[in-house]
Amino acid sequence: MALAEIGRRGETGVDRAAFSAEDRAARRLLYVWAGECGLEASQDSIGNLFLRYPGRSGELAPVLTGSHLDSQPSGGRFDGAYGVLASLEAVATLSRAEIRPARSIEVVAWSNEEGGRFAPGAMGSQVFAGARALADVLTVRDAAGVVLSDALAETLAALPEAAPRAAGPAPSAYLEAHIEQGPRLDRADVPVGVVVGIQGCLWLEYEVVGAAAHAGTTPHEYRRDALQAALELICRLREMCLKRSPTCRFTVGRMAVEPNTPNTVPGRVTFTVDFRDADPVGFAELGRELRAACIGAACIGAACIGAAGALQACELHVRELFHHVPETFSKHLVDVVATATRAQNYPEFELVSGAFHDALFVAKVCPVGMVFVRCRDGVSHNPLEYAAPSDVTAGARVLMSALLQLAAE
Ligand code: HGY
Ligand code: MN
Ligand code: MN
Repeated sequence: MALAEIGRRGETGVDRAAFSAEDRAARRLLYVWAGECGLEASQDSIGNLFLRYPGRSGELAPVLTGSHLDSQPSGGRFDGAYGVLASLEAVATLSRAEIRPARSIEVVAWSNEEGGRFAPGAMGSQVFAGARALADVLTVRDAAGVVLSDALAETLAALPEAAPRAAGPAPSAYLEAHIEQGPRLDRADVPVGVVVGIQGCLWLEYEVVGAAAHAGTTPHEYRRDALQAALELICRLREMCLKRSPTCRFTVGRMAVEPNTPNTVPGRVTFTVDFRDADPVGFAELGRELRAACIGAACIGAACIGAAGALQACELHVRELFHHVPETFSKHLVDVVATATRAQNYPEFELVSGAFHDALFVAKVCPVGMVFVRCRDGVSHNPLEYAAPSDVTAGARVLMSALLQLAAE
């Protein structure tokens, strides 16, 4: 709750954009709390913040655990923050009990998981895992034109106490605790969940190019109305996806209209599609269709064949912002989390994550596992996001039990 005060909006909302002043304040608070239990701070070139609890055998690869501190613009108090603080709480408890496992345990706050200010999301964990080059993200600009490299430099400089992180051995394992952000645990009345994988995720940005024109004088047959074309395209793409895959998720979350005045026919529109599916075949097939919907000036995809009116009058282009195929977690890590769940006397409930997480990319360098906790009505990416104290405690207990197992292996 103290962390939720940083970037608080209204009663329970949080706006803590990556590499913002709020993000820097949250990182400092985490650093102070970690210092109280003797953890050593370091940060890498993309600003991932690591807080190390040294193990008995320093030469062994560490176990990593954590999540992210950045939030959606109208986010809640738990998405990301819970996983970082559950990890800190688990390690602080070991430290207080003077339990020192063989392996070091490092609490990590990954940079820019949400991708709302600087796309794409999971940026810090992607660079850490070598899935994306640092150079490729440094030039990304936010909506106000701020370039990532400047915001990153300011963030790194704001915590000089964190040593530059030497490229060490790959971690032996990574665990992440997170609210489910969906309704399944809540409906099953179960406090914690054993995550077995993460569904595929594809972010595309569509550009529709028409021609700006006077709203009063231009007859409809003369118009190349980019917004009408975009609306037609969105309905066709959504209908295609929902018809072909009952398990998919299709969201248009961001749209920009130019020139965005009441009395000018829009000349250019961009919008994003966030497409997800747990089924690898459906994800691949529909991903291809969504990309094929518009190549260059023609609109050739299945969704648009036979399109009339505004859609045919405009040029369409699409570019990929983010893509990851469905991920299945290592059986060993799923078993460790399931065993820890049983050891703490909670019911075992296995589920695939609907949201992506940093674990998705860390899985490229080591086995990963996740512990979910129930969130009320499954609400997330919303100020009403809420997880009960008994549930967040249950998740932290399971996390600590699993960490002890992994740090002893
Ligand atoms: O979009 C996601 O799945 C994550 O919450 N950033
Ligand atoms: Mn998250
Ligand atoms: Mn999120």
